[in-house]
Amino acid sequence: MTESLTDRPRRLRTDGIRSLVRETNLSSTDLIAPVFVDATTDERKAIPSMPGHDRVPVSETVARVEEILETGVEAIMLFGIPGQKDAVGSQAYATDGVVQRAIRRATDETDVYVIGDVCLCEYTDHGHCGVLEDNARADPTQTVDNDETLDLLARTAVAQAEAGVDMVAPSSMTDGMVGAIRTALDGAGHSDVPVMSYAAKYESAFYGPFRDAADGAPAFGNRRHYQMDPANSTEALREVQLDIEQGADVIMVKPALPYLDIVREVRQEIDRPVAAYNVSGEYAMLHAAAEKGWLELEPTALESLTSIKRAGADLILTYFAEDIAQHL
Ligand code: PBG
Repeated sequence: MTESLTDRPRRLRTDGIRSLVRETNLSSTDLIAPVFVDATTDERKAIPSMPGHDRVPVSETVARVEEILETGVEAIMLFGIPGQKDAVGSQAYATDGVVQRAIRRATDETDVYVIGDVCLCEYTDHGHCGVLEDNARADPTQTVDNDETLDLLARTAVAQAEAGVDMVAPSSMTDGMVGAIRTALDGAGHSDVPVMSYAAKYESAFYGPFRDAADGAPAFGNRRHYQMDPANSTEALREVQLDIEQGADVIMVKPALPYLDIVREVRQEIDRPVAAYNVSGEYAMLHAAAEKGWLELEPTALESLTSIKRAGADLILTYFAEDIAQHL
């Protein structure tokens, strides 16, 4: 009987050959580490729901970046917690805004590749990703005024570019945001700054820990009127197509693990690099299970990131970046 078994996949699973036939190889240069800079503190403050991550004062930007570079990770995504918030998120586009200050330090003093998240939710006192419609607090059918928000996003991207950012990443799911940002960057002499669009960003419950970290939870309502319905996939391709038409250089899918089908589909349909954001909740749940002794942290994290790459992601944003890069 055994002679008829000509094809035995196990032959290629021995230790000498496993790595030679491995289809997916994760590298530290695939990874982007998110960093939170906080204008309200002089010392690092631990983020309880994201073990190992801190809010970092601007003065520690370079020290933080150097720790990341040491692990082999070469790129960061910057998020800011401003000194004050207001209705229009003006610290997002202020010349001396917290992210702009951190960008200057990181790009002047290190070789890290700096990507700036472009959104207003960390900077508005109501926590939404743009300016509100007139009666948004009382009327649940209202939220963010799409077209009024475009100009502020464009200003934010230009402010980051003037500070020296290497790439901007708009995450507000405002219709037309990529085109508005591309036009503004080009008009200000920054045609060399690429745009990585959070093109298919879902209204996900997995963002919970991030909203603590960046202090960006909406004060009322939720984001269902601008972020995508988790039930939809053809709509993701339409979102991606629109952003490419507007000039997006890199396309992001977010979150990652619950949306690997979307990552795969975008990879197959689109001739642009694909990024996937392994979000705060994906990080927190592995840590929580590991803390209880129910899962092993490092192998589950490595398996998660390998799966995201196998699905088709070229770039992976992850809070595990440093921990995993050290083991690659
Ligand atoms: C800002 C933004 C969010 C994340 C990245 N950029 C939060 C949100 O949309 O509520 C989430 C990142 C994460 O959960 O790790 N718009």
